[in-house]
Amino acid sequence: MERLKDKIAIITGGANGIGKATAKKFIKEGAKVAIWDVTEESGVQTSKELGDNTQFYQVDITSAEQIERAAQQVFQHFGRIDILINNAGITKDATLAKMTIDQWQQVIDVNLNGVFLCTKLISPYMIEQAYGRIVNASSVVGIYGNFGQSNYVATKSGVIGMTKVWAKELGRKGITVNAVAPGFIATEMVKKMPEKVINMMEGKTPLGRLGKPEEIASAYAFLASDEASFISGTTLSVDGAVTI
Ligand code: NAI
Repeated sequence: MERLKDKIAIITGGANGIGKATAKKFIKEGAKVAIWDVTEESGVQTSKELGDNTQFYQVDITSAEQIERAAQQVFQHFGRIDILINNAGITKDATLAKMTIDQWQQVIDVNLNGVFLCTKLISPYMIEQAYGRIVNASSVVGIYGNFGQSNYVATKSGVIGMTKVWAKELGRKGITVNAVAPGFIATEMVKKMPEKVINMMEGKTPLGRLGKPEEIASAYAFLASDEASFISGTTLSVDGAVTI
């Protein structure tokens, strides 16, 4: 079953981790994928690995100029933009006492401003065609908070708020807007953590393990598909029940 047949999707941060798994899943579901990422090397590599139905664009989502240019290029190449997965994100963890203003600002710039800019500059293409699916990366910590993550939690809570605003603003234009809140997912970032921390994460999760990037990709595919055509403004937790 190809639930995203011939749909054109932009996936930010699509070169690695959850974004890469999502690109792979979307292609399997029949979509054509524009991978947007700031890192050229892994972007080119991922696009090669995933084959003809992907195209890599080097884009820093903190730059309105770069987003605008890349959106135009995607539109010229593919003829439409149906799906935006606002997945790119970074962490710069420190307690309130130790967090530098620079650490605060960098995370806000990518995880909050980047999501705002991509949605602001890509949604006009969707409005024009009266169809669109936007799915944003939040996190369970955006709902429950987390020690040492003032910056990251602010952005992930902010994403949930913006998702609701845009669901209201864009609904009558044929566009749904949702968020996914992953729990602890075994990406490279998490795998590098000390075994003790990983064991703690697994212990806290009722399903007794970390999630896989593919399990988040499935949630993105569902929310981007027409099976989810009456779902908008929601945040779907995909967390092995860690938050209940
Ligand atoms: P990752 O670090 O494996 O991949 C993130 C990608 O975003 C990288 O390819 C990176 O180059 C790209 N990126 C970073 N800054 C960028 C910028 N300015 N412009 C364009 N691309 C940029 O991260 P992962 O783990 O796959 O996470 C993906 C999303 O899911 C993030 O938003 C993260 O906050 C969220 N998330 C991840 C969880 C986890 O346990 N891994 C849990 C909850 C949420």
